[in-house]
Amino acid sequence: MRKVKVMTVFGTRPEAIKMAPLALELAKHPEFDALCCVTAQHREMLDSVLDIFHLKPDYDLNVMQPRQTLSAITSKCLTGMDGVLESAKPDLVLVHGDTSTTFAGALAAFYHKIPVGHVEAGLRTYDKWSPFPEEINRKLVGTIADLHFCPTPSNRDNLARENITQGVFLTGNTVIDALQTTVIKEFAFGEAILNDLDYVNRKVILVTCHRRENYGQPMTNIMTALRRLADAFPDTELVYPVHLSPVVQEAAHQYLDGHPRIHLIAPLDVREMHNLMARCHLVMTDSGGLQEEAPALGKPVLVLRRETERPEAVEAGTVRLAGVEEEVIFRLASQLLSDRNEYDKMAHSANPYGDGRACRRIADAIAWHFGLRDTPPEAFGA
Ligand code: UD1
Ligand code: UDP
Repeated sequence: MRKVKVMTVFGTRPEAIKMAPLALELAKHPEFDALCCVTAQHREMLDSVLDIFHLKPDYDLNVMQPRQTLSAITSKCLTGMDGVLESAKPDLVLVHGDTSTTFAGALAAFYHKIPVGHVEAGLRTYDKWSPFPEEINRKLVGTIADLHFCPTPSNRDNLARENITQGVFLTGNTVIDALQTTVIKEFAFGEAILNDLDYVNRKVILVTCHRRENYGQPMTNIMTALRRLADAFPDTELVYPVHLSPVVQEAAHQYLDGHPRIHLIAPLDVREMHNLMARCHLVMTDSGGLQEEAPALGKPVLVLRRETERPEAVEAGTVRLAGVEEEVIFRLASQLLSDRNEYDKMAHSANPYGDGRACRRIADAIAWHFGLRDTPPEAFGA
């Protein structure tokens, strides 16, 4: 029997965290020849994930340059993919989410007339500038893709509104699969400060911030609000693993350096990140992935953005949109830090994004699509 050749393509940290468990799942199925291509749109932050999951890519385009422009990333990924697709000739290319790698990977596969599967399909804000450029990337990939793996029912409904109803599978988000392998009770952090923190008597606030639409004034507002919070609440410790983007590094160090209870540290590996999240009091972030992970761990999240494509946890009450104005961020965080009732209302675990079986469903859906199964997988939540 000829194996179905499935190639996963990814390039940034979050794509790697969410695609690694899928790449490993595909490799377990004898009917698939599972190949992995990384663009390395991120270098160190990608390699850290590959190490943790013991994943060795078959192809590495190594495109990262400091302060790379969107056009440079897209064009390098697109031309780099040409050679890879010509030599590997996969039956299906799987891309993830909404990055430049995602868009270029899908477009390259289309140019080679290779079917595309979109993992984490159907997320929308309906604002093309926010998140920028991700909203347009995912819409374009939605147009190109043949198979759409939606984490939630509302993602599936978004696609239906765009008349995309064929090849759509409700799977849950693969990040919940990843989360189930990383959080453990006795965890020793590599970073000394994380072992020394008093997670019981202090309120540890986990911060991340990196979005392009937050560059400039919004990021200044966010950083200023964070410093005011540390000053106003002596029982808090802010831990901020700073993204390697030079723009983010500059902003974080300019506004947050030199405070005894603000800890600016290097990006954490994914195991460290998940275990820190499991121990912290509150998460303040503009990250997409953290909005999915923290609710599963029962941690309240203030989202440092004007909108979110992940309304499910807002509806479940564990995530609140704080926006990007200093005063509002400061007020909402102050409320959670000083009012136990308000905090307790948000601090309960919610799992709208998955049940840990998304990768299995995606693998089964692909097998069914290629005629290797009689029935499609049961939908997430069915
Ligand atoms: C990208 C994605 C964004 C995702 C984010 C996850 C796009 C357009 N954006 O944004 O959707 O949320 O990744 O983190 O695809 N850098 C390093 N080492 C690394 C990683 C990055 O030095 O390991 C620096 C480089 O100078 C690079 C810069 O960070 O130029 C920005 O990286 P880039 O991929 O352009 O955008 P992100 O803001 O990371
Ligand atoms: N993450 C990590 N180390 C860090 C910061 C984030 O491992 O220092 C993980 C986080 O747990 C989540 C993913 O990276 O799984 C989110 O990536 P990021 O915030 O960079 O991108 P986004 O999700 O916003 O696209």
